[in-house]
Formats: sequence, C-alpha cells, structure tokens
Amino acid sequence: MNLDDGLATAVAVAREAGKLLLDGFSQQKKIERKSSAVDWVTQYDKAAEELIFSRLRAEYPSHGFIGEEGTDAAGAEGYTWYVDPLDGTNNFAHGFPIFCVSIALYQEEKPLLGVIFDPTRGECFTAVSNQGAHLTTAGGHKTQLHVSTEGDLVSSLLATGFPYDRQTSDDNNVRQLSAFLQVAQGIRRPGSAALDLAYVAAGRLDGYWEFKLHSWDIAAGILLVQEAGGTVTFMDGAPFTIQSRLSLVVSNGRIHDPMLAILKMTG
Ligand code: IPD
Ligand code: CA
Ligand code: CA
Repeated sequence: MNLDDGLATAVAVAREAGKLLLDGFSQQKKIERKSSAVDWVTQYDKAAEELIFSRLRAEYPSHGFIGEEGTDAAGAEGYTWYVDPLDGTNNFAHGFPIFCVSIALYQEEKPLLGVIFDPTRGECFTAVSNQGAHLTTAGGHKTQLHVSTEGDLVSSLLATGFPYDRQTSDDNNVRQLSAFLQVAQGIRRPGSAALDLAYVAAGRLDGYWEFKLHSWDIAAGILLVQEAGGTVTFMDGAPFTIQSRLSLVVSNGRIHDPMLAILKMTG
C-alpha cells in the first residue's frame, strides 16, 4: 500500500464529495430521522457516501469500508476505510455553514492516513502516519499543523458535542459541560466532531471532549491531532484505539490531565 497514492485518492474523493455537498447546501433537503428525533439524514449524506465508496472501491477493491450511511464491508490485510460523508448534518440541514467530509484509512488498529475537507472554507486537513499533519488553504497554501502550547484551562478554548440520545439519557454531557464552563476560557459546540479535531490539530482549539461518538466521526481527526503533537485518550486516560462507539478526550497534551480530572469528577 503506497500511502502517498492513498492520500492523493482520499483528497481527490473528499474534494469531489465536498463539491456535491456545497451544491446541495443551497437546495431543498429531504430530511429523515435515524436513531432519534434530533438525528437527521439528508439525501446529500447518502449521495456523498455513495460517491466516496464507489471511488475508493474502484481504487482499492480488496479493502474494508465502513461508512455512516450503511456501508459495512470487511476487507483483506486489515485495511479499512472509515468515512463520514457529511459530518455536521444538522448544521447542513439548517443552512449553518460548518460541516465537512471525513475519510481515514487504518490497517487494523493503526491509523495510516486521514483527510478532512471543509467545503465552505475550502480547507483541506490531511495527515499521514509519521509524516505530520497539514492544512491546504482554499488558495492552495500548504502549512504543517501543530497543536497549541496553552497550559492553563482558564485560558483554553474547548469544544464538545452532545449525543443524539441526549433527550432520553442522563448520560448527555450536561454535568461535564457545566463543570468545564466554570473553569475554561470558553466552550464551543461547532457541530462537527471531525472539524473539532482538525481545529485541535491546527491549534485553533486547545482541547475537546465528547461521549458516544462513532468510528467514522473521529477516525481521520485523531490522526491529525496525533501527528500535530496532541494527545488522544479515552475518558479514563487509557490510550485511544479505534472502536465502533467511543468517548474521547483530545488536547494539546498540556491541558490533558486537568481535563481528565474534571471528567473523573463529573463522571
Ligand atoms: C455528529 C457531529 C456532532 C457530534 C455528534 C455526531 P453527524 O455527526 O459530529 O458534532 O456532536 O456526536 O454524531 O451526525 O453530523 O455526522
Ligand atoms: Ca458524524
Ligand atoms: Ca454524518
């Protein structure tokens, strides 16, 4: 497996799917409910997933493929592509311009490459294992990404999100949000877990936590954060491994222990 070729394919596919989403952004959306009343899917989520897997399958027919909108196929040699064709569906459906395409390739537990493309800003975040994380701007300018150096929660900008069962489960991140609000400089809820992670990698956010995520939400973003020098763990501090459902703390490393302490206190 040549990772440069894999990255070039993933970037081209993410950009193509991003264009499909951007074209759909101003159109009428057909909305269906999935796991709960607040968990939506549009025709554009489905069309983008179809497009992405048709391209990846053509290039890598023996690989495994896991996507949010139903794609689930095992592959050879442990290679698996994790795809969120539209991360930030609720934003997209409301016309709120924060959403992205997220594509990652793993071999068993090991992240090999990740791409997160934000079509409204034209920003393409990429990472390859042991080769760093990069941002290519809409103008084509490419820079290496590094996490921030902030060491105090009181000066940290954090992000989080809330699970789709938040109206029926007490395990809905409200206690944790309340505790972080008391100690951090600011909290954001952008609405796209993949972009939250890309922004930690880019030093735009100092940390992020969220419960009950899926593999496709974070598969690309965690490699970006790791390659940008940040830290990714489970809520109890155990090292990250890819799983179908997960709850994560992600940071620049310096504020990781204080974040874990708050999560322990409120858990
Ligand atoms: C959601 C977004 C959101 C996060 C949810 C995810 P979707 O993904 O990433 O920020 O809070 O947990 O499920 O449904 O827009 O692909
Ligand atoms: Ca998602
Ligand atoms: Ca999605």
